[in-house]
Amino acid sequence: MEAALRANVRGIDAKCRGNCACVTCHVYIDPDWQTVVGPPAALEESMLDFAEDVDNRSRLSCQVLVDRFCHGLIVHVPAEQRVLGL
Ligand code: FES
Repeated sequence: MEAALRANVRGIDAKCRGNCACVTCHVYIDPDWQTVVGPPAALEESMLDFAEDVDNRSRLSCQVLVDRFCHGLIVHVPAEQRVLGL
């Protein structure tokens, strides 16, 4: 989420600024990266109920821990299906 905000990525509004309370940072994790990123925690999973077009790739980007193992991580923005390479 922070990387998307810094890059002014359209479709990532992050209105709650990372507090897992708004779902405006919804993204799809590329299938090749789902094992690295891991599943959503319980709170995040319950918040995803309020997002549109949720599927098994869905995550709230503010809850995704990006570390050195995520170099090259690919996520998709639901609204326009654009690909972000982090
Ligand atoms: Fe609000 Fe992620 S920024 S839920």
